[in-house]
Amino acid sequence: MVDNSVVVEMRNISIEFPGVKALDGVDLTLRAGEIHSLLGENGAGKSTLIKALTGVYAIDGGTINVAGATRTFHGTADAQDAGVAPVYQEINLLPNLSVGENVMLGHEVRGKFGINWKATHEKARTYLKELGLDVDPRSLLASHSIAVQQLVAISRAVVIDCRLLVLDEPTSSLDRSEVDQLFAVMRRLRGRNVAILFVSHFLDQVYEISDTMTILRNGKLEGEYPINALNKKQLIEKMLGRELAELDSISRAATRKIDRTGEPILKVLALGRKGAIEPVDLDVFDGEVLGLAGLLGSGRTELARIIYGADHADHGAIQVRGEHVRFAKPRQAIDHRIAFSSEDRRAEGAIADLTVAENIVLGVQAKRGWIRRVGSAQQDQLIAQYMESLGIRPNNPNALLSTLSGGNQQKVLLARWLATAPQLLILDEPTRGIDVGAKAEIQRLVVDLAESGIGVIFISSELDEVMRLAQRIVVLRDHRKIGELKNSAKTGVDDIVAMIAKEGAA
Ligand SMILES: Nc1ncnc2c1ncn2[C@@H]1O[C@H](COP(=O)(O)OP(=O)(O)OP(=O)(O)O)[C@@H](O)[C@H]1O
Ligand SMILES: [Mg+2]
Repeated sequence: MVDNSVVVEMRNISIEFPGVKALDGVDLTLRAGEIHSLLGENGAGKSTLIKALTGVYAIDGGTINVAGATRTFHGTADAQDAGVAPVYQEINLLPNLSVGENVMLGHEVRGKFGINWKATHEKARTYLKELGLDVDPRSLLASHSIAVQQLVAISRAVVIDCRLLVLDEPTSSLDRSEVDQLFAVMRRLRGRNVAILFVSHFLDQVYEISDTMTILRNGKLEGEYPINALNKKQLIEKMLGRELAELDSISRAATRKIDRTGEPILKVLALGRKGAIEPVDLDVFDGEVLGLAGLLGSGRTELARIIYGADHADHGAIQVRGEHVRFAKPRQAIDHRIAFSSEDRRAEGAIADLTVAENIVLGVQAKRGWIRRVGSAQQDQLIAQYMESLGIRPNNPNALLSTLSGGNQQKVLLARWLATAPQLLILDEPTRGIDVGAKAEIQRLVVDLAESGIGVIFISSELDEVMRLAQRIVVLRDHRKIGELKNSAKTGVDDIVAMIAKEGAA
């Protein structure tokens, strides 16, 4: 049965980086059979605290007590020996091995003649079943979705009998049914007395899954609370240290009048690519935010990539202000002042070993061509302007991108594309991994950009965000456009959901 004994006690933890006190006297108590959410703004210190707990960073002050014994971790192996198993987004798995081999890695069943693979896979199947996962242990890990791969990583927690599971933003690229599956596994592990630390910027998910929460603010402990002790508004106030600014001015954006009499900035005619997206028509006018809604995997990103020239269309045409264009590569789209901010900051674009400033000017530089360097005074001005307006922290253009928190890296990418002064900006999940405060800031920024005349294609899994910003919404499902919605005071998220569901029944 669940016993709620203390598994980990971190007391008075401090970690300092050159110029940044990332953690300042933070406490965290994790108990068996409890799902504990760690909350705070981008840069509050969540990942740093986790890295202290999992032995990635040495602590400068404080104590870590695991199962009653004080521990000093000189690396992740020490932490794992103590039963602390992290599951990061970049999962430490071997894609070219089978699911079963991954689950059982280092714990294979051995017989007289070495590893008994049949028995190993059978055992893996049992473990997976216990967590409610119906995955063939003999299938290749790489053949599964990221979500399933992540669940396989988590199921290793059972194999190595860890008492603590650490999940840093595990749901950021999962769709709803995948989140359900993950939560089911988390609940089962909780039932087996595992202590679980969970980090997410989706506050609804935090309320849905956790028992307890610890809030950090600016590297300091704000407090620990039972999940029911604070409502969402109170939680946000504690995270931000202030009230969340009213979103009223933003919600009115959706019903702003757009002049659609002239040439659109972009017109897409039966644009498609076999296997990625069926032929789609759409247009975007000056000052308009066009939402692209649909479930994960519905073809939103595929469509954006084709428009931008990152992938090739095998069908259809693109016009920019009435002129027929063909984008064989993104550079040509950039030349037409079209910018694309990708949803996947790690794979596309964010260069960890460059500074914030270098990452920001990269877009401007690509646009000008590498021969015509951007003047350094102009550069500094651009960088300062966007760091300021996006609230990038730390406010230091010379910091390496890798030292920024996840959400702040996302803002740097956004700054890169804004600095190119685009006429059309394609934003793919721009607020993913971004805290509630900064999310509101980014939404406001999108509204401001549109009001200044820029056209925006706004892709987001969060439908209420799309509803709040877009004047028209193109709905995709199963790799094709199933309809278009004009936003008004009367339309709501339910209208999009109904559209997607109706099509499903047909
Ligand atoms: N290796 C490092 N070198 C220098 N500074 C760092 C390093 N790692 C983190 N920091 C700084 O420590 C602070 C806390 O960052 P951390 O990544 O823990 O934030 P977070 O709460 O996880 O934010 P997010 O929600 O954006 O992921 C930030 O100011 C960050 O820039
Ligand atoms: Mg983080």
